[in-house]
Amino acid sequence: MGIIDTHCHLNDETYQENVAEVVQQCLDQGIEKMICIGFDLPSSRKAVEIAHTYPCVYAAVGIHPDSAEDYNEEVAAELEQLAEDEKVVAIGEIGLDYYWDKAPRDMQKEVFKAQIELARRHDLPIIIHSRDALMDTYDITANYTPVKGVMHCYSGSAEMAAEFIKQGFYISLAGPVTFKNARVPKEVAVAVPSDKLLVETDCPYLTPHPYRGKVNYPYYVKLVAEEIARLRGIEYQELEAITSKNACDLFSL
Ligand code: NI
Repeated sequence: MGIIDTHCHLNDETYQENVAEVVQQCLDQGIEKMICIGFDLPSSRKAVEIAHTYPCVYAAVGIHPDSAEDYNEEVAAELEQLAEDEKVVAIGEIGLDYYWDKAPRDMQKEVFKAQIELARRHDLPIIIHSRDALMDTYDITANYTPVKGVMHCYSGSAEMAAEFIKQGFYISLAGPVTFKNARVPKEVAVAVPSDKLLVETDCPYLTPHPYRGKVNYPYYVKLVAEEIARLRGIEYQELEAITSKNACDLFSL
């Protein structure tokens, strides 16, 4: 079994010219599967299209909080259809972003809740984006426990991670855990129980050390996994086995 990148954006324009090449490089480097995540309607459609082209790629569809103003009945209806696609394994990324605050917070909350309900109708897990909004995220998801889902690129404290785990969440770590001064993500990497840990790249963003500042690729998930294995004092192969099993369990891969 290889490793699984549970959150990448091969649907981003960064890879427009070379998706096939990047997917092949991933396979060559032992990346077993990857989940391509939508952030608005066009990128959700594109994620599904890529997933249908490459057997190792799965898709998630959803409207990111930065695009909450795009959400309307038509968009909801199309997401509802996409959710039925055999390669769609989650609704995401959805949530709250109070850092960019691109849409009014009340609207972000409504769009978030509507998509949690969509996921529940289709019995799909949710992939949460939460930036500077952990408490409001927690208050909303508290209404839907036990939650089937993941806190993507989790950046909060280990204590708060434990609270999300109590709600049912998995915790996913990305490139920032490899940064030298990333004290809190490194604490989280050690604290999360084995059966709740996932790894991801969020590429093309958040490129791990030592490639920070350059374009990110799904195969750099190995750098994330290596650092977490080192922090937990276990072999890379064990970390790979644990996180791949968790990904298969949560997303029914
Ligand atoms: Ni993302």
